[in-house]
Amino acid sequence: MVKKWMWALLGLVGIWCLWMGAVWAGGWAVLTLESWPENVVAGEPFTVRYALRQHGNHLISGVEGKVTAVHTETGERLQFAVTDAGDAGYYAATLLLPTAGEWGWHIESFGRFEMPPLQTGTAVPTAAATPMALLAKPMWFPWLLGLMGVVVMGTAVGLWRRQQTRFAPVAALLGVTLCLAGFVVTPVVGTGASETAVPPTAELGEILFVAKGCATCHQHDGVAYNGIRTYMGPNLTDHQVGAEFLRLWLRDPAQVRPQTLMPNLELSDREIEALIVFLSGDGETGVKETAVK
Ligand code: HEC
Repeated sequence: MVKKWMWALLGLVGIWCLWMGAVWAGGWAVLTLESWPENVVAGEPFTVRYALRQHGNHLISGVEGKVTAVHTETGERLQFAVTDAGDAGYYAATLLLPTAGEWGWHIESFGRFEMPPLQTGTAVPTAAATPMALLAKPMWFPWLLGLMGVVVMGTAVGLWRRQQTRFAPVAALLGVTLCLAGFVVTPVVGTGASETAVPPTAELGEILFVAKGCATCHQHDGVAYNGIRTYMGPNLTDHQVGAEFLRLWLRDPAQVRPQTLMPNLELSDREIEALIVFLSGDGETGVKETAVK
């Protein structure tokens, strides 16, 4: 005689099979945000682009979509239209979040994809407006110093010819100093601007784990996610494979294992580094400090 608990177990297995069957037959997709919107400013429009991969592998086009954002505190609710973004399988929506604070948001497009909350700030005076930034950035600054130096030296010559011998040397010295200052400032200006990108953090990695669609195929206990799950890939909660391997794997899984079912999600170097920091858990990843775009 079959015991009761056997029936219960069979029932559970049956339900699970039905559920997985529905997931696989009804079609599911991986939604991958092209880039995570950082530094969103309240009242300023920004565009999010995403790719939809049916069954995780082929890009599907012609899917309708909309984006819904809800302010966590005020409950203010907004919807935005999604349009085809040119290439087949890629979509775009332009969002404008009028209020600063936290916004929950999701994309409905071949399923419902809950995104990690967005933090919107108020418009801050841009870096260029502060005196230090003015010093550090534009190329005209050394030129201005040089020009001032030349003018002052010209004045010195003028003074000299008018027999103003007391002031002429002072002016000449000032002119030379200004010209030299121009030289000193030039290298500072040359290196200042470009290498200021925020380094990739585990926090960003955790966000990307959802925003890129990893969570659709991989369980990770450290990630809040309540969207569709396929359990296709291994649980990554404590999957330690080393930064070097992950760097290759996340760049293009099929290059590492041609038969793999994991798609190439077209991650940038910086996104890959953030995911590595996050997946390695302790930050001790040997992540290269350079070579991050
Ligand atoms: C469409 C499903 C799918 C998506 C989306 C997906 N993966 Fe995978 N992933 C897999 C499968 C399947 C494997 C199993 C390995 C294989 O196929 O060889 C895997 C394996 C892995 C592994 C283990 C590799 C190894 O051999 O140790 C890591 C790490 C990983 N994925 C990370 C990610 C990250 C990070 C993302 C998001 C950027 C992601 N995956 C997105 C399906 C997916």
